[in-house]
Amino acid sequence: MAVMSPLAACLWTYAVGLKVLLEQLLRRRFSLPVLPSQDGKVAIVTGGAQGIGYETAKHLSRLGMHVIIVEFMYLELASLQSIRQFVEHFKARNLPLHVLVNNAAVMLVPQRYTEDEFEEHFGVNYLGHFLLTHLLRDALRQSGSSDYSSRIVTLSSATHYIGEINLNDLQSRTSYSSHGAYAQSKLALVLFSYQLQQRLAAEGSHVTSNVVDPGVVNTNLYKHTTWLFKLCKWLFSWLLFQTPSQGASTVIYTAVSPSLEGSGGFYLVNGRKMKSADISYNEDLQRELWNLSCKLVGILEACNKAS
Ligand SMILES: NC(=O)c1ccc[n+]([C@@H]2O[C@H](COP(=O)([O-])OP(=O)(O)OC[C@H]3O[C@@H](n4cnc5c(N)ncnc54)[C@H](OP(=O)(O)O)[C@@H]3O)[C@@H](O)[C@H]2O)c1
Repeated sequence: MAVMSPLAACLWTYAVGLKVLLEQLLRRRFSLPVLPSQDGKVAIVTGGAQGIGYETAKHLSRLGMHVIIVEFMYLELASLQSIRQFVEHFKARNLPLHVLVNNAAVMLVPQRYTEDEFEEHFGVNYLGHFLLTHLLRDALRQSGSSDYSSRIVTLSSATHYIGEINLNDLQSRTSYSSHGAYAQSKLALVLFSYQLQQRLAAEGSHVTSNVVDPGVVNTNLYKHTTWLFKLCKWLFSWLLFQTPSQGASTVIYTAVSPSLEGSGGFYLVNGRKMKSADISYNEDLQRELWNLSCKLVGILEACNKAS
């Protein structure tokens, strides 16, 4: 399969970014409706110490939820061992789990590998959340009921539209582009979220899985961009970018809004269901990526048992 060159990946990423900025400028920003109290409910938000994750955690806890953010219960998504330890600690507390927000991410980092030898975007953004979700699936299942489904909300990005899944080189070892690697990880998350929804529905559990694209948001995610980009962001973000709290609004809505009760398998942008990239609906690719991911994170046996 021909893979996009690093230059093409970079140019397409900026083209997609510009399109989103323009849309943001022209459309009305989504504002959260009044949401019901979440007293007695528990959520985990990865990457909840800053940016969109922090605003999500803050709002959910204002609604009465007990929110675990990964800064306070240590979780390093670049380590499969740390993910397993985090889940062990969480389960030892015998808490229910109603909402899991797969939010944490890195973007445009130089070519680096996690301790498990995964390319960092693919390892942290995608495989880390793949394993985390798998390990928390029973807790979510047990906390869902016929009148209240537990919810998995996964953050992707408009860059997934230009993403390619390079099944022969998921870790980008033969050719590396930071833009391509970020886009691949964000497309993988959409494929994962849809496939997860299918599996949850097939087993009849009261858990849903949706994807959110928060738009272009003024956060530290851009710390690895060029100085020119940073200068433009500094000059124009007040006009073009969303604030972290605006970026979090669709995440919060997807996590708790009664209007989405029992609905899964959707891609939400600015509070509305939208179509994701055509390739993200390819069920063969979803399954192939799922099986490969099970192998990579060392849960092949559990995956085979579940399917
Ligand atoms: N900002 C945007 O314009 C934009 C656009 C589209 C999609 N998104 C998506 O929105 C989500 C949130 O991004 P953001 O803009 O809020 O970014 P951010 O402010 O940079 O926050 C990212 C969070 O992820 C955490 N994180 C990074 N690597 C980690 C690791 N190895 N283990 C555990 N946590 C890790 C960070 O932890 P530390 O605090 O320890 O660094 C931070 O809390 C991401 O999934 C991103 O792809 C953002």
